[in-house]
Amino acid sequence: MIAAHPEDFQHWRSLARGFIAHGISPEEVMWGSPEEELLFSQAESPPAKQVNFSVPRDFVTLATRASLHRDPSRWSLLYRLLWRLVTESRSLLRQSTDPDVLRLKEMDGEVRRDCHKMKAFVRFRKTPDDRFVAWHEPSHLVVKAVAPFFARRFNTMDWAILTPDTCAYWNRSELLFGPGLTRAHAPVADELEELWKTYYANIFNPARVKVSAMVSEMPKKYWHTMPETAIIAQLLEDAPRREREMIEAARSEKATPHHITQQILKQDGDLEQLRQAAKNCQGCELCHTATQTVFGSGPKRARIVLVGEQPGDQEDLRGEPFVGPAGQLLRRCLKRVGVSPDSVYFTNVVKHFRWEPSPRGGKARLHKRATWRQIDICEPWVRAEIELIKPEVVILLGATALQSLVGRELQIGQHRGIPLSCDLAPRVVATVHPSSLLRMRDNRQQQLEIGRFCQDLSFALEMSHSPLHSSCSGHER
Ligand code: URA
Repeated sequence: MIAAHPEDFQHWRSLARGFIAHGISPEEVMWGSPEEELLFSQAESPPAKQVNFSVPRDFVTLATRASLHRDPSRWSLLYRLLWRLVTESRSLLRQSTDPDVLRLKEMDGEVRRDCHKMKAFVRFRKTPDDRFVAWHEPSHLVVKAVAPFFARRFNTMDWAILTPDTCAYWNRSELLFGPGLTRAHAPVADELEELWKTYYANIFNPARVKVSAMVSEMPKKYWHTMPETAIIAQLLEDAPRREREMIEAARSEKATPHHITQQILKQDGDLEQLRQAAKNCQGCELCHTATQTVFGSGPKRARIVLVGEQPGDQEDLRGEPFVGPAGQLLRRCLKRVGVSPDSVYFTNVVKHFRWEPSPRGGKARLHKRATWRQIDICEPWVRAEIELIKPEVVILLGATALQSLVGRELQIGQHRGIPLSCDLAPRVVATVHPSSLLRMRDNRQQQLEIGRFCQDLSFALEMSHSPLHSSCSGHER
């Protein structure tokens, strides 16, 4: 019997590869935690030999997440599955009633939900030295996986997220991890408390008050760290009056895309309702200079969503995304990689055309990039579109789509054509914007870049056709 004590997924993966290489069956390995290794120090070291074999990418994705589950049997489950994928059937994951596959998917779902809860329920409190500290008790070992989300979102703050397992620290440039701490290390209250309460009071939707649903979405175990929970009783009492006010507010100019999309999603609204609501959007000043809102277009159950920056001149006049020169190039490239443009959903992060008059005079309207404020205000529309469509693949065209939906610091040059880690869809891939291809002066270079663009598209789309065909050595999410 061989004892193995992986510290994390990468470590498990290299141990597991060695075991597979030596033909060591799941029954011959005793998987435990690193702490157990200290207790049983006579445990055998794993074999060093490595071989190449490939497993479906979906397994890597699911296993990476399931490895964050707290269940101590996760490592042995993963090894059993790996062994069976290599020795029994590469399509094992498609056997949806197989107990190992079922458990893997169950763990994956539980970890995903826990990641979501950490993003939603962490509340920072300000310390006297201007740092921000939060206490959180995740159900699974998700801190290292979710901390980069907070680093992106709060990258100009010094913050710490303390948990009993691992603590995450951000010093405005580097994300560091340390051992777990107790709740006594976290501050209890501060001036931010009032801010959170005000914020929550504002986003609370009195029309949808369902106490049981609130408890299931925001389990009581998190309540003590969340200042806003102190005002729930009062908000419930106030709900009928606030509902009337909300209806009034929705009719008024003050209704923001954030509020409107939240309401539509909470009320199980559909894409058509979203489209109708966006028609009257006055979230920012762009609605005054554009001809009309250009909402997304395509099948409401599309497997592929393409997200651009903002409508151009022709899109603004026709009220349809990607119908101008960049859109025509994009549609040609889709056809070239075997996808009918009618089967995909086209949309933009910003729904109104921002333009400036041509310096040469005349009627020409020149595209002007939207400001980050305008992008942030408008972005809830595209997120809601994606949430309702639930595509398999989202393709982000250009820096605005990538940076607003995935991470402000990301560069297209470094992140194009590879799967990105984000919650928008199972697969998210970025590439250049087709308008950048149109701007190229050198014909040969332009053809080369169009070829690269098509490669990025077909890479993203390939994954939507055959999710199980890429190997373990490829990109992971
Ligand atoms: N560019 C975009 O980003 N979107 C469009 O709809 C057209 C051009």
